[in-house]
Amino acid sequence: MKLIRARDYKHMSRQAANIISAQVILKPDSVLGLATGSSPIGAYQQLIKWYEKGDVDFAEVQTVNLDEYIGLDAENEQSYAYFMRNQFFDHINIDQSKTHIPDGTNLDAEAECERYDRLIHSLGGIDLQLLGLGPNGHIGFNEPDDYFPKGTHRVELTKATIHANMRFFASVNDVPRAAYTMGICDIMQAHRVVMVVSGEGKAEIVKKAFYGPVTPQVPASILQLHKDFTLVADEAALKYVTE
Ligand code: GLP
Repeated sequence: MKLIRARDYKHMSRQAANIISAQVILKPDSVLGLATGSSPIGAYQQLIKWYEKGDVDFAEVQTVNLDEYIGLDAENEQSYAYFMRNQFFDHINIDQSKTHIPDGTNLDAEAECERYDRLIHSLGGIDLQLLGLGPNGHIGFNEPDDYFPKGTHRVELTKATIHANMRFFASVNDVPRAAYTMGICDIMQAHRVVMVVSGEGKAEIVKKAFYGPVTPQVPASILQLHKDFTLVADEAALKYVTE
């Protein structure tokens, strides 16, 4: 594991954007695994700026997103499909037919999960997977459990996650109770994984996930075993990490 210490959210975002842009410059047809949540927004904004300056070109990039709420269609403002267009895709020269997100309107979980895993496979796997960190250690929507789920699957969200994500919805009752998410194997097979973490609220889980035992009760802890994992975190999130 490689640790990049950033001063604050802005610096963290810039450092992560640097790694992503280097990936795209070196391999213009990269498959990027992308994430939602508040943590990666700054990196997306930085990449948009560099695109506008002509420094990075997304024309040949393919993307696969980690997860999507079940029951929300792509036009719903709370869907991750909408988030990705709004925060990133609509502002760069990506071919939107090359951007992929699980289909939250497909209620046939088995068919949707199989389709998504086949799609990732058909793209040749993920070159770089960007991740955030849930307050309970979840990655994508892989929640704490007794085992590491392998491929894309349907999850019932935990109370903690519903609570953490209600800030994006009008009320807690509007937060969907289930989602599709890539599995741990999909994420671990990415050639390179980059996680962005910011703020004191994540300090305890950072310490537990990356300096404690590898356990499915803290899904992100498995990244300690990844051969090319970079944690980009700010000082506040690294409060308990002295390394
Ligand atoms: C959601 C997403 C995760 C994300 C997490 C953390 O649950 N499914 O992929 O990492 O939120 O969000 P934030 O970055 O806003 O703390």
